[in-house]
Amino acid sequence: MLGGLTGFLHGVEPTASPWSVVVLMFCLNLGPAQASTCPSQCLCTSDLLSCTDLGLAQVPEVLPVFIVTLDLNHNRIVQLEEESFEGLPHLEMLRLAHNQVTSIQSGAFRNSSGSLLRHLDLSSNQLMVLEQHYFQDLPGLQELLLFNNRIVRVETGALNHLKNIHKVYLSHNLLTTFPFFSIQKHSHPNLTMLDLSSNRLPKLPLKDISNLPQSVQEGLYLHNNSLLCDCSMYSLFRFWEQMDFASIRFFRQEHVCLLYGIPRGVRFFLYNRFFDGCRLLELKQQSRDVSVRAGARLLLHCITSLSGTRPAFFWLAPNSEYVTPPGNNGSLNMFPNGSLEIVAAREEDSGIYLCMTQDQDRNETGEVNVTVLRHEDEAHEHFNTGFTTLLGCVVSLLLVLMYLYLTPCRCPKHLPPPTAALSRGKEAGPGSAQSSILTPTPPTTTEGPGRKMFPSNIFSFLPCDTSKPTDSLYL
Ligand SMILES: *[C@@H]1O[C@H](CO)[C@@H](O)[C@H](O)[C@H]1NC(C)=O
Ligand SMILES: *[C@@H]1O[C@H](CO)[C@@H](O)[C@H](O)[C@H]1NC(C)=O
Ligand SMILES: *[C@@H]1O[C@H](CO)[C@@H](O)[C@H](O)[C@H]1NC(C)=O
Ligand SMILES: *[C@@H]1O[C@H](CO)[C@@H](O)[C@H](O)[C@H]1NC(C)=O
Ligand SMILES: *[C@@H]1O[C@H](CO)[C@@H](O)[C@H](O)[C@H]1NC(C)=O
Ligand SMILES: *[C@@H]1O[C@H](CO)[C@@H](O)[C@H](O)[C@H]1NC(C)=O
Ligand SMILES: *[C@@H]1O[C@H](CO)[C@@H](O)[C@H](O)[C@H]1NC(C)=O
Repeated sequence: MLGGLTGFLHGVEPTASPWSVVVLMFCLNLGPAQASTCPSQCLCTSDLLSCTDLGLAQVPEVLPVFIVTLDLNHNRIVQLEEESFEGLPHLEMLRLAHNQVTSIQSGAFRNSSGSLLRHLDLSSNQLMVLEQHYFQDLPGLQELLLFNNRIVRVETGALNHLKNIHKVYLSHNLLTTFPFFSIQKHSHPNLTMLDLSSNRLPKLPLKDISNLPQSVQEGLYLHNNSLLCDCSMYSLFRFWEQMDFASIRFFRQEHVCLLYGIPRGVRFFLYNRFFDGCRLLELKQQSRDVSVRAGARLLLHCITSLSGTRPAFFWLAPNSEYVTPPGNNGSLNMFPNGSLEIVAAREEDSGIYLCMTQDQDRNETGEVNVTVLRHEDEAHEHFNTGFTTLLGCVVSLLLVLMYLYLTPCRCPKHLPPPTAALSRGKEAGPGSAQSSILTPTPPTTTEGPGRKMFPSNIFSFLPCDTSKPTDSLYL
């Protein structure tokens, strides 16, 4: 399964177009000035420099200024030295997969294109610790491929500078922890994929994970780790399953946890009887839009990623009144954990509720849009669907009756022309309206005169089944 992910990545390697080859010939044979900047044995095309599989021990000293893609895959590079990629203002893709990189010196990417470089492939190398400074000069990076290294640790700030990151692949490493807390609501707004599968994570910091922005949780892959089986871990994954996250949909079987006495681990989505005794925690998650019937109880959570000691909570109700505990008055209650209870929702409680949290050094604000439905709204809706279905049944019965009793049947050659009620499908020719309703196959003219074609399963064509839309058949 994981091969699918990595296979996809290999699939995006560009291939040299015929035009690039022409340019290459030009470079090699006719353009001595250009040729001198192309490192020997490498291939220079219009904007791509490929030096794969040449046994290089370091990044070539002189690189042509025009390159957008630099491909150094399959070499023996051990270290990325300071300013290795200096003076490449157009560089967007850097491929260093299948080398022996063990460390990246401070400033390795300094004076390269910086905010332009968006794809960095360091997969299948020998990296062991992702240090704080590794990616500091890459504010524009979108994809960072680090799978199949020997990474045991990611330093807390290592991803902090990657403000524009979309996808980070860290699977097939030796991670036993990961600094989830360093990823917060606004720290990496575009992050939608964090692959930590096939590592050695024994325990997940559930609080930090459930505090991750939902867009990150949706793209968090944690299968095939060395997780210890316990109820809270199981609830997290069950919750993700309910949310239908892709990680569970596609890698259900690869989710394992370790239980004493079972050497290969438990595939806990398949054999969940081990967790029968677990009271599944209700993991808090607050959606931005909530609607509720008038009179019902409503509980709003104030989710925060602030981890300081006991953050303070405030709510601002739509009528702009502050609510703080213990200012409870029987209709609006606030709990010490920040949750706000509306005991019996009224229409005038609709609106935007702002939740603010504050710890020693930061403030955070969240908002929830509450809509309280009137009783009539709901009744109206039910009536509407019921009525539509009923109408569908009546109309179709009428059509059948009209077909049976009103259509002239003494036409020797042709099927009867459509009556006024059935004439919608004129351009399709006479008889087509009926046939599309009553027969699964086009009518044949071999029927005897006056014979009604009437399949025995006609009632299965009638939209009296509420689960099927009526419109597609008749409108
Ligand atoms: C490289 O960047 C440093 C600061 O980041 C700057 O002082 C220096 O002039 C740059 N060198 C070149 C060749 O652009
Ligand atoms: C990244 O996030 C920022 C802030 O939310 C947004 O303005 C920008 O369009 C995003 N970039 C991409 C490529 O999605
Ligand atoms: C699961 O992880 C182990 C060890 O981390 C690794 O050897 C194995 O290839 C992984 N399995 C899959 C299907 O990726
Ligand atoms: C309770 O307080 C809320 C807001 O502070 C207010 O809207 C509501 O009317 C109060 N209810 C009672 C019963 O006083
Ligand atoms: C906060 O406490 C209340 C009452 O004990 C509980 O119902 C609610 O679920 C709690 N909120 C969170 C986010 O755990
Ligand atoms: C948080 O917000 C309060 C009130 O708006 C303000 O007084 C305080 O200075 C803010 N604290 C920080 C760290 O921004
Ligand atoms: C809140 O939700 C209601 C109903 O869904 C919608 O009409 C309204 O525009 C929303 N308000 C905001 C500020 O998003």
